[in-house]
Amino acid sequence: MFVNKLGLQHYRNYDALNLDSFGDVNLILGRNAQGKTNLLEALLVLALTKSHRTSKDRELISFGQDHAAVTAEVEKKYGTVQLDLRFSSQGKKAKLNGLEQRKLSEFVGALNAVMFAPEDLEIVKGTPGVRRRFLDMEIGQVQPSYLYHLQQYQKVLVQRNNLLKQAWGKEAELAVMLEIWNEQLVEHGVKIIKKRKQFIKKLQKWAEQIHDGITGGARSSN
Ligand SMILES: Nc1ncnc2c1ncn2[C@@H]1O[C@H](COP(=O)(O)OP(=O)(O)OP(=O)(O)O)[C@@H](O)[C@H]1O
Ligand SMILES: [Mg+2]
Repeated sequence: MFVNKLGLQHYRNYDALNLDSFGDVNLILGRNAQGKTNLLEALLVLALTKSHRTSKDRELISFGQDHAAVTAEVEKKYGTVQLDLRFSSQGKKAKLNGLEQRKLSEFVGALNAVMFAPEDLEIVKGTPGVRRRFLDMEIGQVQPSYLYHLQQYQKVLVQRNNLLKQAWGKEAELAVMLEIWNEQLVEHGVKIIKKRKQFIKKLQKWAEQIHDGITGGARSSN
């Protein structure tokens, strides 16, 4: 998969940018705050429909503007695909080859990207929640069903928590409801855990090889 073209309009500090010559490896050089990270962020935004740096899409729109657009031409095994993602106060709209996608999840996966930024060392150093978020971002790009179960899980969890808040003193009445939520939580949770385990197993194979290459095969026990 290659990105042939990238276009930004009113995106962060870019008023208009059109890039159409990429190599296999690309170095982006610039002064502090010139927009290097913004450029990489835009690519990840195209892959995920959201930023890794903020949950507020509004921040992606240039100050003083009312909309932003990120577009790209991506070359895949079976031809090129045009990606078009637009942000405005009405929300976001995603098009593939000019066709608006009904659900953003149908757009996710058209471009696959893995971000590695200094703060990503938290994946190793940080709490398990950081690692789960990383897995969610990566698996979600290649398996739409994963995103579905993740969304359902989160929905059920919110509803179950609401029920628990109301349950004080009337546990018996709500026990049946709770059981239904529990069942659903387990159903989606099992799917999520299974997919995470499969993914980690694959990652481990790669990681072991790279690790052996760095350390000459020596492994520490912690
Ligand atoms: N919504 C926005 N509208 C306009 N400018 C923005 C917006 N959001 C961020 N910026 C600007 O983008 C700049 C930061 O860009 P970025 O983080 O990509 O810099 P960088 O080149 O990665 O810098 P560094 O070398 O420090 O990492 C800042 O000047 C900031 O004011
Ligand atoms: Mg930066």
